[in-house]
Amino acid sequence: MSMGRSVRKAVIPAAGLGTRFLPATKAMPKEILPVVDRPAIQYVVEEAVEAGLSDLLMITGRNKRALEDHFDRAPDLERTLELKGDEARLDAVQHASGLGPIHYVRQGEPKGLGHAVLCAKQHVGDEPFAVLLGDDLIDENDQLLSTMIDVHAKTGGSVIALIEVDPSQISAYGCADVTPIAGEDYVRVNSLVEKPSVEEAPSNLAVIGRYVLHPAVFGVLEETGPGRGGEIQLTDALQTLAKGEGEGAGVYGVVFRGRRYDTGVKLSYLKAVITLASERAEFGEDLKTWMKAFLG
Ligand code: G1P
Repeated sequence: MSMGRSVRKAVIPAAGLGTRFLPATKAMPKEILPVVDRPAIQYVVEEAVEAGLSDLLMITGRNKRALEDHFDRAPDLERTLELKGDEARLDAVQHASGLGPIHYVRQGEPKGLGHAVLCAKQHVGDEPFAVLLGDDLIDENDQLLSTMIDVHAKTGGSVIALIEVDPSQISAYGCADVTPIAGEDYVRVNSLVEKPSVEEAPSNLAVIGRYVLHPAVFGVLEETGPGRGGEIQLTDALQTLAKGEGEGAGVYGVVFRGRRYDTGVKLSYLKAVITLASERAEFGEDLKTWMKAFLG
């Protein structure tokens, strides 16, 4: 078992068209949709920084300028807030630009998650890196990404995050067949399949949007043809690495049992907003009182 190198870089794919949220996303990237008062993507960037990843690369596309603006300085706005003496809002505005620097590369065509990750090849080079998908929010009290980085350091392989789902839900996710490793809190991934039917699914373990990848994945992605939905699937490249041997092969899984919010689907987005809002000191109690009354 080879030792992995330390992970410094995070890749955040944000090139999706956001069709599930139309018309809200007609003129605005879906990543900017607010979860309480922060864009969903800011939670993800904060999680990467919190896990010690200092080099951030966002994969964007057409109509995504708002993302760059959000993480940039805003001198006029900052001056206005300063003159008003509005320290709290000034801090909030400056916090977003203080997370970076963030690098950007555009995915010219929507050819799938695997293709989006391949767009990071030149920036990442020959070192392990994390991938964080913007639709999944991981509770800030759960150290999922740090745990995955530790598993990479121990095994040298690629690491995915898994959750147990109701079997009826598995067709919305990548699905993994795994074997426990004695004495370890991570599992070996034997095979992966993207969005299988209930009948085809090898388990009820679903891939969620956090990955720590060996750079060998780039070479594999270059050789990976279109898969499910006619798109180049990251899951298919990981299947090749799971089945392979030698440098860069081997895929491991961390089964996550903490709190995760899915902002990619309308109903779960609403649940995420309500859950996180109800935990906010400034209005959480008022919101809960109102909800009880609302529900009768
Ligand atoms: C992507 C991956 C899938 C994974 C999911 C997690 O799918 O292809 O394997 O389970 O993210 O959110 P998407 O949700 O982009 O269709």
